[in-house]
Amino acid sequence: MARPTAVGRQSRLSRGTADVGSGLGLGRGRTYPASAASHLLNPLRRIVQPPDRIVRAMELRPTDRVLEVGCGPGWFSPRLAAAVPLGLLVCADGQPPMLQLAASRTAGAPNVSLQAADALRLPFTRGSFDAVLLAHVLGEVSDPVACLVEVARVLDDPGALTVVESRRDSDFIQFDRLVKFAGSAGLRTISRRGPRWEYVARLRPAPGLP
Ligand SMILES: C[S@@+](CC[C@H](N)C(=O)[O-])C[C@H]1O[C@@H](n2cnc3c(N)ncnc32)[C@H](O)[C@@H]1O
Repeated sequence: MARPTAVGRQSRLSRGTADVGSGLGLGRGRTYPASAASHLLNPLRRIVQPPDRIVRAMELRPTDRVLEVGCGPGWFSPRLAAAVPLGLLVCADGQPPMLQLAASRTAGAPNVSLQAADALRLPFTRGSFDAVLLAHVLGEVSDPVACLVEVARVLDDPGALTVVESRRDSDFIQFDRLVKFAGSAGLRTISRRGPRWEYVARLRPAPGLP
C-alpha cells in the first residue's frame, strides 16, 4: 500500500494479505481468536485499562498519522481516532472479523481506515507513521524482532512506538525481554510507565537506523 491518506472518501476497509489465523488460541505464539473478541470489549476493562490512559501516554499531536497493529476489535481505536482529528488512524489486524468489529466501533470517524495486514509484513512504505501502538500483540507473533523491525521501518523520524503488555495475559512479554527484542530491532526505550499489572513502554528507532 502506498503512503496512507485520510479516508472517508474511499473504502474504510482494505484487504491485504495476512496469514494469522492458523494458530488461533491463547498462549505464546498463538493468535487471539476473533470468536473471543467480546472479552476484549468487556466494559470492566475500562477499570484496569482505560483507553484514555494508554492514549495519553502516547503523547500524540492532532496531526499525527497513527498505526494500530493488532487492533483487535478496537478497544483503543475510538480514543486514538479522537486524539488525531487532523491526522489519521490506520487499524491493522490479521483477522478480518476483528477489523469488522473495529470498524463498527469507529464508524463515523472520518480519519480512520482499516487494513487486513500481517504484523510481520506491514503493507506500508517506510516512514508512513508518526506513532504506532502494539497492545498485547508481541506475544502472539511468531517473530517479535521481525515485527519490531517492521514497525521501526514504517515510523517516520522522530516517531515513537508504544508497547502495552499486561501481566494477566498468558503471552505476557516481560519488560526486559521487550528491551532485548527492541535492541535487536534497532529500537531504544525512551520511557516506561504503568501500574503494577502492566507496562506502557515508548520506544524510538536508534539514531542512524537505515
Ligand atoms: C490479544 S488481541 C489484542 C487486541 C487489541 N490490541 C487490544 O489490546 O484489545 C491481539 C490481536 O493481534 C492480532 N494479531 C496477532 N498476530 C498478528 C499478526 N501477525 N499480524 C496481524 N495481527 C496479529 C490478533 O488477530 C488480535 O486481534
